[in-house]
Amino acid sequence: MKGTLAIIGTGRIGEALLRGLLQAGTIGPEQVICTARREERCVELERAHAVKATTDNRAAIEAADVVFLALKPQVLLEVIAPLAGAFRPDQTVISVAAGTTTAAIQDAIPGEVPVVRVMTNTPVQVDEAMSVVCAGTHAAESDLALAEDMMAHVGQVIRLPETHLDAVTALSGSGPAYFFLLAEAMIDAGILLGLPREVSSQLIVQTMVGSAKMLRDTGSHPVELREMVTSPGGTTISAIRELERAKVRAAFLDAIEAAKHRGEELARRA
Ligand SMILES: NC(=O)c1ccc[n+]([C@@H]2O[C@H](COP(=O)([O-])OP(=O)(O)OC[C@H]3O[C@@H](n4cnc5c(N)ncnc54)[C@H](OP(=O)(O)O)[C@@H]3O)[C@@H](O)[C@H]2O)c1
Repeated sequence: MKGTLAIIGTGRIGEALLRGLLQAGTIGPEQVICTARREERCVELERAHAVKATTDNRAAIEAADVVFLALKPQVLLEVIAPLAGAFRPDQTVISVAAGTTTAAIQDAIPGEVPVVRVMTNTPVQVDEAMSVVCAGTHAAESDLALAEDMMAHVGQVIRLPETHLDAVTALSGSGPAYFFLLAEAMIDAGILLGLPREVSSQLIVQTMVGSAKMLRDTGSHPVELREMVTSPGGTTISAIRELERAKVRAAFLDAIEAAKHRGEELARRA
């Protein structure tokens, strides 16, 4: 990447992206200015990554070609609105704040500043994020491509219209929580069957990783992969009958629909 990158609000996600970009050599530490609320956090970031870090958001934005907004959604608009004059139309502004629309950001920083919104998820911390990017009113193809390029260093990325972002939030945004809940329940099942907790955890975690890799790497449909483990009259089909009786499939449909509705409700209140 050419020019200067400002990361405004360098917490978990800002730092994960910073690490990914530095490791890939896409950017050098001398090209980055990070901001945080506390001086101690700035010192921590400078020590860990040899980048410049400051509590002065305005100075960071003014110096930047690309502004990456990684603040919490609750504070994003109130932090950037007073700094509106520091943004320029020749910059690309990329926001990862969950639930904050490009329209809301554009209202806070008027002028034709290109804004790209990204919905990512917690596996960004291990470079396995699923990110979705969408364009604001003034974002050009080059702005979207830049955001895609940056997020590609910390996982997979696709492009969708913003109308799909509440659905994306409910699926891949909240998705890790559903898998963690499933893992927790399966580990408990191992304990019920008399296995020590560590053994049960190892069995389930590696089974999840292996299954996820099979899904991703073979490109096969989940039904096909499930059928490979489901022999006639066997153990797996006995378990699946119980899951179907408990309406687990319907519960997932209802749960993810509820998450989307909640996202829409929160966006209306913002
Ligand atoms: N974590 C994820 O995996 C994930 C996934 C999807 C989307 N997101 C989105 O990513 C954004 C960041 O989430 P996060 O988990 O990284 O949050 P976080 O760890 O709490 O980081 C927020 C950072 O913002 C800084 N900050 C707060 N007020 C500031 C201000 N006025 N000026 C400059 N910096 C300020 C904080 O500084 P201090 O450390 O000094 O307090 C902190 O470093 C959120 O909008 C969230 O919706 C996160």
